[in-house]
Amino acid sequence: MSVLEKMSSEEAIALEEKYGAQNYHPLPVVLSKGEGVYVWDVEGKKYYDFLSAYSAVNQGHCHPKIINALKSQAENLTLTSRAFYNDMLGKYEKYVTEFFGFDKVLPMNTGAEAVETAIKLARKWGYEKKGIHTNQAKIVVCQNNFHGRTITIISASNDPVATENFGPFTPGMVSIRYNDINALQEVLQDENVAAFLVEPIQGEAGVYVPDENYIREAYELCKTNNVLFIADEVQTGVARTGKLLAIDHANIKPDILILGKALSGGVFPVSAVLANNEVMEVIRPGNHGSTFGGNPLACAVAIAALEVVKEENLAENAESLGKLFRSEMEKLVDQTDLVRLVRGKGLLNAIVINDAEDSSTAWDICMLLKENGLLAKPTHGNIIRFAPPLVMTKDELLDCVSIISKTIKQFEK
Ligand SMILES: Cc1ncc(COP(=O)(O)O)c(C=O)c1O
Repeated sequence: MSVLEKMSSEEAIALEEKYGAQNYHPLPVVLSKGEGVYVWDVEGKKYYDFLSAYSAVNQGHCHPKIINALKSQAENLTLTSRAFYNDMLGKYEKYVTEFFGFDKVLPMNTGAEAVETAIKLARKWGYEKKGIHTNQAKIVVCQNNFHGRTITIISASNDPVATENFGPFTPGMVSIRYNDINALQEVLQDENVAAFLVEPIQGEAGVYVPDENYIREAYELCKTNNVLFIADEVQTGVARTGKLLAIDHANIKPDILILGKALSGGVFPVSAVLANNEVMEVIRPGNHGSTFGGNPLACAVAIAALEVVKEENLAENAESLGKLFRSEMEKLVDQTDLVRLVRGKGLLNAIVINDAEDSSTAWDICMLLKENGLLAKPTHGNIIRFAPPLVMTKDELLDCVSIISKTIKQFEK
């Protein structure tokens, strides 16, 4: 079968089922085209994308500026490895560090790799700057976190689906309750703690927004105890929550910032670990690396993707549309027993369905949303995340609100 041959949804799904590892459980829709806030399936049906590839496509599908950057760079140079210099990496490093306000960046590809990098960086800082005894460093994480799927990262997870039969795990990860400042204060008394790794909003867990002062107080506790504050903004960063970074709501600057996903507008795997010199200088040649990390194609794409964020005021748009979305969803909560609540920040939101956590109701609602032209997916059990591209207009958002309201009412019947 030629790769260019048109196929039906059923055929495409059958191929994935037969030849692909079954590590995902997708909604049965086969997409072949995307533009802005829309995607099309192979039969030509058009949908609003309300997941944005888990907040990677903040700039909208196939944004012309980003695609042009990809094309023109691809015609010149795609990869040199870091065995040699290339003429894009330094340019990108200057751009991204100035953009987010840090001295240095360590470029990687996926979110999980960037989290791994941050953990390595924090451990090394712990030994070389803080004076933690060899192999004693601890990283504090929060329950119900999602930082990716590598062995070290799942060692910090309490999700049985992610951990069962994958042991033995990496030692040195200590888990505390999210949004519990006393628990953090207690654990930070241990002098072997090198860092606190936290999502400013827990996205995969179901868009849990912590108390207003939690992030600021957690940051201050870290400062008092000489512990690095690591913000995992792989999902919340790059304008998603109505500010450039979700930690900007708390007005703090983390010691280590982790970015991925929308750093490339979803066009290419680009992730980054940003820190100031005092932290980043512990990394020396040979300590860490990746064949593709910092490749010229990624650099060109990421610069264009960040330019779009600024030029199109995506943070401001996410902020105002997010408020509108939640206020419309509040009306729905009042009108139906099926939706218990709505929560979120900017355009990272979720509704909680009024049914048992292990019920299929949220999935069934997503199936009906799909029929009605809007794609979303449950995060955990009865929670549906709503995260459209940030290039959405007010009219489009209101159209989506009416699709969601109509679907919920239709489902209730
Ligand atoms: C907060 C957070 N960190 C890390 C990751 C892992 O990113 P990736 O899937 O690119 O490895 C994710 C992915 O959803 C995430 O939401």
